[in-house]
Amino acid sequence: MFRSSLCALLALFCCKSFAATHTLIITGDSSGGAFSATFDDLNHDFSLTGSILNNGANWIALVGTSLAYLTFRNTSLVAAYDVSPSGGLTPAGAPVIVPVPVYVGVSRNGGFIFTASYPSGAIATVPVTPKGIPIPPAVSTTFAAPDPLPSPQDQARPHSGIVDVTGQYLIFPDDGLDALHVYKIGATSATFLYDQPSPVRPSGPRHAALSGFPMVPNWIPRLHVVNEEDNSVETWIMHYSRNNVSLILQGSAVSTLEVHAGMNVSTAAELLISPNGKFLLASNRDAIPLGDGSIAVFRIEPPTAKTALTRVSITSSGGANPRSMSLDPTGKWLAVVNGNSNSTAMFIFNQETGVLASTPVANLTGITIPQTVVWLEDRKTPTATEAEILRLQRPAEV
Ligand SMILES: *[C@@H]1O[C@H](CO)[C@@H](O)[C@H](O)[C@H]1NC(C)=O
Ligand SMILES: *[C@@H]1O[C@H](CO)[C@@H](O)[C@H](O)[C@H]1NC(C)=O
Ligand SMILES: *[C@@H]1O[C@H](CO)[C@@H](O)[C@H](O)[C@H]1NC(C)=O
Ligand SMILES: *[C@@H]1O[C@H](CO)[C@@H](O)[C@H](O)[C@H]1NC(C)=O
Ligand SMILES: *[C@@H]1O[C@H](CO)[C@@H](O)[C@H](O)[C@H]1NC(C)=O
Repeated sequence: MFRSSLCALLALFCCKSFAATHTLIITGDSSGGAFSATFDDLNHDFSLTGSILNNGANWIALVGTSLAYLTFRNTSLVAAYDVSPSGGLTPAGAPVIVPVPVYVGVSRNGGFIFTASYPSGAIATVPVTPKGIPIPPAVSTTFAAPDPLPSPQDQARPHSGIVDVTGQYLIFPDDGLDALHVYKIGATSATFLYDQPSPVRPSGPRHAALSGFPMVPNWIPRLHVVNEEDNSVETWIMHYSRNNVSLILQGSAVSTLEVHAGMNVSTAAELLISPNGKFLLASNRDAIPLGDGSIAVFRIEPPTAKTALTRVSITSSGGANPRSMSLDPTGKWLAVVNGNSNSTAMFIFNQETGVLASTPVANLTGITIPQTVVWLEDRKTPTATEAEILRLQRPAEV
């Protein structure tokens, strides 16, 4: 009797420690809102819990779990919000005017935020207070147009930005110029260093993600870039020197599709690295010849391998136009916004084996053209310490 009740108690305790209700924030475009949702990872109940604002929010970047930055493409604004535990957003300070933003990110030193403007061919930085409140005006740079080629190659089209593992460099993939704009991070802004041209043109660098050190301690840091015009993922080894970083291509780009889509079929959109650094996931938005959206999974090979990535599968995204996706900090749950299906799919992912379930466990409906999804969960951003940075700058020892 005592034994069985102890077992029951243990079972209850186990369930409690393994099941959790997660909170997510999803922004929608044409409905113009940002929404909070919960996902119960035991019974897979995925529900909307609130509409939190309604003025054309698109990209969202979370800092910890209590601060968020949102971009407003229609009004050319970026704004800070205090985030409540249930995903509610309250304005923190006033919105700041920047060139039509499609992306916002934060420097690791907490000194500024940065935006990328695909429509205006510009990037911008905005200093922030110690509490993260933006301080206008923004400092923006508009890149010169290349030769007149068909859109999107007709002008610069910075699509996103990423801070490296040392926190010293900021890299903007530019879809129009087929280049990576490399910047050095200062206290409250960034200084242009150089442009790293893409190995192939047109390729359309869109978003980027980091792998290797310190996620995988004995692998040098690498930058992976998803190209939306030739639908591929390429990998750059990051070689640090005292005041610079060089990007050295590892192998050639790998397609995100089974069959090459040809020109003018822009489908590859987002990429993610599993928290353990072993796999890369890239989304393909649907394009007429390709049917619904899909997710391509790649195994990340060692930095010494001839090819950086090996594609292991391509499976359905559970709907149309998967523009953004996000893994929870345990790497087990993948949320994918399927914009043109007005739904967000939740998949089980195994970050040890790279197996992504072929059908979702749940679809969240009720948001028109969802755009971006984030988990309201604390996650450690892998960052090198001062000593590790010095070691990275001495090539012989890495
Ligand atoms: C934002 O602009 C797009 C394109 O012009 C439009 O379809 C959409 O309704 C606008 N959204 C809001 C919330 O104003
Ligand atoms: C791609 O689109 C551009 C601009 O619309 C057009 O000039 C070009 O011929 C197209 N290329 C192909 C291969 O369809
Ligand atoms: C930094 O490295 C890049 C790439 O190797 C190089 O083109 C550039 O000239 C370097 N800049 C400085 C200031 O050393
Ligand atoms: C998504 O919602 C929009 C706006 O209500 C609607 O026009 C469109 O047909 C919906 N798409 C699907 C696949 O249901
Ligand atoms: C979610 O939607 C996809 C695509 O319509 C469908 O294949 C899947 O069965 C749905 N899953 C659930 C749990 O509703």
